[in-house]
Amino acid sequence: MFKAPRGTADILPQDQPYWRHIEAVAAAMCERFGYRRIDTPVFEEAGLFVRSVGESTDVVEKETYTFEDRSKDSMTLRPEGTAPVCRAYLEHGMHVLPQPVRLYSVHVPMFRYDRPQAGRQRQFHQINCEAIGVADAAVDAEVVELAWCFFEALGLKSLSLIINSIGDPKCRPGYLEKLRAYYAPLLERLCGDCKRRYETNVLRLLDCKKESCQPHVANAPKSVDSLCDECRAHWDSLRSYLESLGLPYAIDHRLVRGLDYYTRTVFEVTPPEEGAQSTLGGGGRYDGLIEQLGGPPTPSVGFACGVERIILNLKRQGIEVPPLPPVTAVVAFMGEAAKAPAVKLASDLRRQGVEAVLAPAGKSLKAQLRYATALGASKVLILGDDEVRAGTVAVKDMATGEQKTVAVEEAHVSLRPPLR
Ligand code: HAM
Repeated sequence: MFKAPRGTADILPQDQPYWRHIEAVAAAMCERFGYRRIDTPVFEEAGLFVRSVGESTDVVEKETYTFEDRSKDSMTLRPEGTAPVCRAYLEHGMHVLPQPVRLYSVHVPMFRYDRPQAGRQRQFHQINCEAIGVADAAVDAEVVELAWCFFEALGLKSLSLIINSIGDPKCRPGYLEKLRAYYAPLLERLCGDCKRRYETNVLRLLDCKKESCQPHVANAPKSVDSLCDECRAHWDSLRSYLESLGLPYAIDHRLVRGLDYYTRTVFEVTPPEEGAQSTLGGGGRYDGLIEQLGGPPTPSVGFACGVERIILNLKRQGIEVPPLPPVTAVVAFMGEAAKAPAVKLASDLRRQGVEAVLAPAGKSLKAQLRYATALGASKVLILGDDEVRAGTVAVKDMATGEQKTVAVEEAHVSLRPPLR
């Protein structure tokens, strides 16, 4: 028997209330902050991610689903949403609009060939927001606030907000030199991944999770101590905005993020449980990305969070979400002669805006009522030979057990008001 591919999951009807609720809260919150929805394709030219996310990142090196299509063009299932949104910004000339252009996407399927575990999948979904086109630290604070308000609106508790600044192309090279100099005499004591990253991406040594590397990480030089004047001013204003907004941040100098496009601000929101795969969301500033994609200098900042991880944490924290409304009416029928009128009645009710389903054929009335109970139906409409002949229908209230007979064309009146 076939199974869903490793690292993917079916989203079953019983989990849909979480998905719907999260989507509704996310969309409402993004729109309250003035963000507008954008949807981009599931796959893009492979080069887009190589150029933006970075050749030496885990995502591009080991995790992309890249394939040659039938025209021999190399395509990648998107592993993240920022590069596609920036590509769309450029392609549609959004730089002529008033800046910043605020964009969001919800429940976007993403693909990373990662080792699956709780909270880590190969197909997962993100909520993504990007504010493109301004360098102002107030917009960094806005994005952090948006993320925080979203988690708060979902009712998630005990979250931590960590921030850092990793500088820009002016001051970062000097910082990387300091980091290399610090790590050079320690190389023998580092884990295999760190040894490799020392050569390819020295910044990533700071977010190594291996126990044996932790003392080295703790004593490493901090990027915030090597910022140039402009980056320092940006960092100082970001912190003062966050303070005036009452956002409870902590500075974590190990926070560097796993994608190469970040400049200056980086941040993450984490739940009480520790662990690399527990981060609910993260983001930061990416001032050079659009230029790297061939556009004009376009400073930008954004954030993304994982829907599966949010659901995991809602469940862990016992937070309930609004259930889907149960089916309003089940149309039951007794005998073959009542079947066609029952099919017609269910259809008429739906046209009148009532949720109505037909009970399964060939079953006793008792079994049809059991079916209605399983669906949570509030009313069962029963048609038999007598009702068909008289042009009536029996309406049974499933909560009280009461039953009354009404004219068939009046049936919808005894149900809840039609949906608009
Ligand atoms: P990211 O940190 O790679 O950032 O992913 C954001 C979030 O997606 C993570 O915090 C996590 O909740 C979720 N996530 C990532 N990988 C997986 C996985 N394998 N399984 C389940 N959930 C996962 C970005 O993608 C950036 N594009 C964020 C951003 C937007 N930066 C600026 N703008």
